[in-house]
Amino acid sequence: MSASKPPLNIGLIGYGFMGRAHSNAYVQAGNFFDLPRKPVLKAICARNKDRAQAFADQWGYESVETDWRELLKRDDIDAVDIAVPNNLHHEIAIAAAEAGKAILCEKPLALDAAQGQEMVAAVEKAGVPNTVWYNYRRIPAVSLAKQLIDAGKLGRIFHYRANFLQDWTINEELPQGGEALWRLDAAAAGSGVTGDLLAHCIDTAIWLNGGVSDVSAMTETFIKERTHQETGAKQKVTIDDACAFMCHFENGSLGLFESTRYARGHKALYTLEINGENMSLRWDLHDQHRLEVFDYRDEGVTRGWKSVHVTDNGGEHPYMDHWWVPGLAVGYETSFVHQFADFARSLDGGDFTGPTFADALDTQKVCDAVLKSAAGRSWETV
Ligand SMILES: NC(=O)c1ccc[n+]([C@@H]2O[C@H](COP(=O)([O-])OP(=O)(O)OC[C@H]3O[C@@H](n4cnc5c(N)ncnc54)[C@H](O)[C@@H]3O)[C@@H](O)[C@H]2O)c1
Repeated sequence: MSASKPPLNIGLIGYGFMGRAHSNAYVQAGNFFDLPRKPVLKAICARNKDRAQAFADQWGYESVETDWRELLKRDDIDAVDIAVPNNLHHEIAIAAAEAGKAILCEKPLALDAAQGQEMVAAVEKAGVPNTVWYNYRRIPAVSLAKQLIDAGKLGRIFHYRANFLQDWTINEELPQGGEALWRLDAAAAGSGVTGDLLAHCIDTAIWLNGGVSDVSAMTETFIKERTHQETGAKQKVTIDDACAFMCHFENGSLGLFESTRYARGHKALYTLEINGENMSLRWDLHDQHRLEVFDYRDEGVTRGWKSVHVTDNGGEHPYMDHWWVPGLAVGYETSFVHQFADFARSLDGGDFTGPTFADALDTQKVCDAVLKSAAGRSWETV
């Protein structure tokens, strides 16, 4: 460890998909960004000691805990990372705030807005730095979209639309609940695609286009019963398999959102498009380095959609000056590196542009309104 840099000791809870994505961010961030403190993989916490130890050995965590409460008691942990299923976020985050830890919590913030409100109150009362891993904001092309919008290039905004399409739950033999399949169990996940996938779309939308005022939604659960992995019994499925909603934004624009796990052929098709009076922008996660731009003010004969490779100018494209030379792409995982680097810098006095718990609560409120609207076939105010 550099003698000049004090440590930032991290305690990670959960070693699944996100445990790996976040660990990678902690390893990479200090090498590619100038952070005031050196991230240290201090402890990994998971219930199965052997598997946690294997993860510690692979990634270089110094120690293992099997109960997150023990992790929170440790004085040598500065920041706690909550990378476990959604039903655990509320309890762990409130306890972590009371223990005075900085908190990095996975999305969605909570099972619902009531829980989220309590989490926001807890971090504000404790005065602890906090963030929620809505990482798509920090894909360079999405960050560039934000810069263009904030610079007023689009003019008045008329439309915002986003999709998040997958196809992994079409098989009706797929069980629900338990390891790897907690997303199909409403008790663990809170909701289906609304909290899992649309929450990402909503966070990006609010960030780019401002608050949502009201929503009208429909949801569907295509497969009504699945065997529960933990009980072995056939149980009713209570998550939403698919959700579509329309909304008004506070700026007067109209929004259209769709998400499903039943779009055969699509694995993670997150697309967004925003149409303003002067300019439209379009982005697709499958081609994440490109921002498509149409500028009405371009010269008539050559006016058309441009595909901007957001690596071209290392000096100006967001985050790219930290990586390679112009023209070389970086991957999905760097969105987590960027978020952690921004957060880590803010711990020592820098500004943090979010998302904080309070920002994530705005998204949670939209998710709640969407689910309420679908259940009641009504327009709901957010
Ligand atoms: N930001 C993103 O793009 C993104 C992507 C995927 C998942 N997520 C979110 O990350 C969280 C985790 O999802 P995942 O895909 O990593 O899930 P996962 O199933 O891959 O991993 C979950 C981990 O939590 C552990 N765990 C469960 N209960 C625990 C407990 N009581 N104590 C300690 N560990 C426990 C499991 O052992 C496992 O290691 C969820 O909230 C999910 O919504 C976010």
